[in-house]
Amino acid sequence: MTKTLAIRRPDDWHLHLRDGAMLRAVLPETARHFARAIIMPNLVPPVVTGSDAWAYRDRILKALPEGAAFEPLMTLYLTEDTDPADVAAAHASGLIRAVKLYPAGATTNSASGVRDFDKVRPVLERMAEIGLTLCVHGEVTDPSVDIFDREAVFIDRVLDPVRRATPGLRVVMEHITTKDGVDYVAGASDGLAATITTHHLVINRNHILVGGIHPHYYCLPVAKRESHRLALRAAATSGNSRFFLGTDSAPHIDPLKENACGCAGCFTATNTLSVLAEIFEQDGALDKLEGFVSLHGPAFYGLPLNETTVTLEKGDQVSYPTKIDTADGPVTVFDPGFPLHWRVVY
Ligand code: DOR
Ligand code: ZN
Repeated sequence: MTKTLAIRRPDDWHLHLRDGAMLRAVLPETARHFARAIIMPNLVPPVVTGSDAWAYRDRILKALPEGAAFEPLMTLYLTEDTDPADVAAAHASGLIRAVKLYPAGATTNSASGVRDFDKVRPVLERMAEIGLTLCVHGEVTDPSVDIFDREAVFIDRVLDPVRRATPGLRVVMEHITTKDGVDYVAGASDGLAATITTHHLVINRNHILVGGIHPHYYCLPVAKRESHRLALRAAATSGNSRFFLGTDSAPHIDPLKENACGCAGCFTATNTLSVLAEIFEQDGALDKLEGFVSLHGPAFYGLPLNETTVTLEKGDQVSYPTKIDTADGPVTVFDPGFPLHWRVVY
């Protein structure tokens, strides 16, 4: 018997679309299923000012397939030189929905990020006043901190002090990977939420390292031990509105992943909804899927729910291309390592 599940059309609250040929190749993969996405600003050079974001938004809209209804929710990349007035103007015009904080050096294209958090205080205070969300890449970059501990240390050393010093600042702790992140967000006062990626619900660090190095499972924050994955999975399937989907789908061409110094990022845009339906079903939580992908995010950002729906249908095994082609080279699609049975029907 076919099983179907109709849900409001989902949104992706953390997405990398890149630019140029890569943008043209990956945007349709997201626009097929998602109504909106928070667009990461870590281009080279980064999207720093309101005028950068207007120009990038135009390039995204031009790259959309004919007839696609997709709204890019733009962000600015926070630097130590960011002008609070420019941020406030970009917010007032409706252009941006968030500002992104990368600790300098934490991940791909983060060299222009923040080293001295005191330097961004005026921007953060202005954001708290106007109700603009700060999206945070939550890892310290101190070389003496083990890479598997960097998220937990970030909470203590940076996130908690910043939130205490800036009452009213709305924060999304992005792509959490630890039980520490889950507990911190679940236990905090209002105004804090977390995104969880598809891949961190599926893989732990063994997937990356056992039986050889698997570069397509390498991303940042790096996947942690199994107990952390289970905590993420419990949070995502719990129905707690503080947790919602941000895929962090981050395309890199294969030669840059399968490399002596491979790039971080899993490309999940193509099969995310099938993977999520499978894992929510495995956990007996299909009734919580719509909250995670379609309801909790808009509630946190104060945006309307999508009016249209998508239908998921369970049947024979579904297959997706293992790679998508771009004019820059092939991009490998995330392999969850288990068969998928839920397809999106139109
Ligand atoms: O795995 C990741 N890839 N994590 C990030 O934070 C950045 C992203 C990218 O831009 O490739
Ligand atoms: Zn990201």
